[in-house]
Amino acid sequence: MKPTPSAIVTGSSRGIGRAIATQLAANGFGVTVNYVRNADAAQEVVDEIKANGGQAIAVQGNVAEPTDRQRLVDKTVEHFESIDVLVNNAGITSVGRKDLLEATSEGWDEVFNTNLKGPFFLSQLVANQMLDNGRTSDSQRRYIINITSISAYAVSLNRADYCIAKAGMQMMTWLFADRLADNNIGVFEICPGVIASDMTAPVKAKYDALIEDGLTPIRRWGQSSDVAAAVTSIVNGAFPFSTGERFNVDGGFHIRRL
Ligand SMILES: NC(=O)c1ccc[n+]([C@@H]2O[C@H](COP(=O)([O-])OP(=O)(O)OC[C@H]3O[C@@H](n4cnc5c(N)ncnc54)[C@H](OP(=O)(O)O)[C@@H]3O)[C@@H](O)[C@H]2O)c1
Repeated sequence: MKPTPSAIVTGSSRGIGRAIATQLAANGFGVTVNYVRNADAAQEVVDEIKANGGQAIAVQGNVAEPTDRQRLVDKTVEHFESIDVLVNNAGITSVGRKDLLEATSEGWDEVFNTNLKGPFFLSQLVANQMLDNGRTSDSQRRYIINITSISAYAVSLNRADYCIAKAGMQMMTWLFADRLADNNIGVFEICPGVIASDMTAPVKAKYDALIEDGLTPIRRWGQSSDVAAAVTSIVNGAFPFSTGERFNVDGGFHIRRL
């Protein structure tokens, strides 16, 4: 019997990751729900998936820590036999949102370790596991999907580390896409705009006003489910001749206007 295809979604106890985890589970993937602190929230996601007939496990792990990354991979393989999809979603915003002339190297390290170095080395681990597992020679394409941000190209002077780490993730997407294309592993970037979540809750009033004023052609907040829909389309095989592609899920924010 063919094993259930599986997906690791980092940072899926809340927000965008949670929506990705539940949509993938609804599409037949066994999901590893990763979290760093919030065990109750992760368990709630697992319970919701199971209540809807899906399969999921919760695995604690800080993506910035090498031993935690290894545990995430080991637990997933132990439970689901292989890894078919990795979604590098876990991320933090800039610590203290300091002006770039005041930013600290400690804040930079925290953001870079979580938002860029962690995803890079987790992708390396997962890619090696996918290759070892030997199923890459069959027709089933596998995927690594990186959740970046419009901050990869739009300047925020109080989040320099976040912007630079997200910009780096675009190059990371191209690098892995090129390296893994012969192995039938597609690598994609999803670039969300302003999405309602705990991360954006502290700046809600600011974005309410900007959206009202026409920040985006589609004049509303993005929802986690909007981002999850893009991930699900990709891993369901909608783009067989694409890799390294950036998908904007931003209400049209990226369109330059006069
Ligand atoms: N919201 C937006 O407007 C927006 C826009 C563009 C891009 N993004 C990106 O989308 C991703 C998700 O954002 P979000 O808004 O959903 O964030 P969120 O609501 O703050 O949720 C963050 C999630 O990541 C987990 N997490 C944080 N640090 C982690 C670590 N070191 N290791 C493992 N998991 C960790 C959290 O786990 P716990 O529950 O255990 O804390 C939580 O599940 C991020 O990469 C973010 O940069 C967000």
